[in-house]
Amino acid sequence: MTTTAELALPALTALSLGLPEPHGFGDASLRRRRPGDIELLGGIPDDSALPVHEVLAATERVLTGTVSGPGSFQYSQSAGLDELRAWIAAREGVDADRVIVTNGGFHGLSLAVLTLVERGGLVAVDNPVFPLFLRALELSQAATLPVSVGPDGLDVDELEAHLVGGARPSAVYTVPDFHNPSQGTLPAEARVRLVELAERYNVVVIADNPYRELRFRGADEDFGAFNSSEHVVHVNTFSKTLGPGLRLGWVVAPPRLAQAFVRLRNRQDSHTSTLEQRIVIDLLTHDATWFDRTLVGARALYRERADAVVDALTERFGDLIETRRPDGGFFLWPRLTDPTIDPTRLYEAAAERGASYQRGEFFASSGRREFADHLRLAYGNHPVETLLAFVDRLGDAYDSVR
Ligand SMILES: Cc1ncc(COP(=O)(O)O)c(C=O)c1O
Repeated sequence: MTTTAELALPALTALSLGLPEPHGFGDASLRRRRPGDIELLGGIPDDSALPVHEVLAATERVLTGTVSGPGSFQYSQSAGLDELRAWIAAREGVDADRVIVTNGGFHGLSLAVLTLVERGGLVAVDNPVFPLFLRALELSQAATLPVSVGPDGLDVDELEAHLVGGARPSAVYTVPDFHNPSQGTLPAEARVRLVELAERYNVVVIADNPYRELRFRGADEDFGAFNSSEHVVHVNTFSKTLGPGLRLGWVVAPPRLAQAFVRLRNRQDSHTSTLEQRIVIDLLTHDATWFDRTLVGARALYRERADAVVDALTERFGDLIETRRPDGGFFLWPRLTDPTIDPTRLYEAAAERGASYQRGEFFASSGRREFADHLRLAYGNHPVETLLAFVDRLGDAYDSVR
């Protein structure tokens, strides 16, 4: 039998052969799954918020319709179907030719990396950061410049200090709404300043916005600044609203970059599924108010869950845990205030009791051991009773390591 060594692959020259196994965030080997475990691990929408019946009806209309029928099984344009691009463009307030339909948000991010970042280049990134973006950066073997993220999102002053000091990243990556992992939202004025900085220093902002539609408290921060500059690529997805298994998202790119995205796409998967795009177009346009009505229900559901966890944490831990009530999205980023608690022991004691969460240190983009005193709790896909049971188990674990 031929072994891998005998195949004499050109070791580590092909990009994919050099990609490391994930360690930390997303490393399945860290999970010891047992029945009854409660996992607050991922930014996952609740099953009850997903449009199963509506997709069934839309599929029937698409497949029996005179317009699409077999056409839904044919090739289509790389940038996406015109009707879907038009619907997204109207929601984003941009021309449809700036919209590229993708296979989900992460696909949009990796297209952005391959379009914007030179091999071995420098990219400024959130700290803490959505770890999968660092994985996308491995495609360009880019170095990272960490920029702090707080309750009000990216620290634009810190970024400016880096730029004034001579740092020249090719891109700045940030999650502006309901940050993953740290909950914060970048205020509208800071968005304008961020875009101005990008224009002044010839940097492109990659604004990654999957949670934007899930605000359940307060008023939306205007995202217009992200859609009106030559220096922003605005990445979004239907994953958190219609379901991540669809793998359907989009990018709003400035005209000069939109063509580059399409050329890249021509060299990869050609286009997103025609059938799926047709079904989603039907879903979104058959009843023009359906999507927004659905979001109202989903937001109420996630708000109830977020509040239940915050209230339970406050009741169980008092000031031993510092937590903020989120305004939207799927994440809580509580901090352990007692420096004598060993976060690794707490994590292990909680896992022993069937309560899993993401450890804060997985989200550092600095290469240092930061945020170990934080927990990322994802509450989106668990009913309130389960979330309360999670807090109970976490409380017992905490008592065991004091
Ligand atoms: C910040 C952030 N960006 C991008 C994504 C990826 O979205 P998708 O599932 O559409 O690829 C996620 C998903 O969890 C996310 O949290």
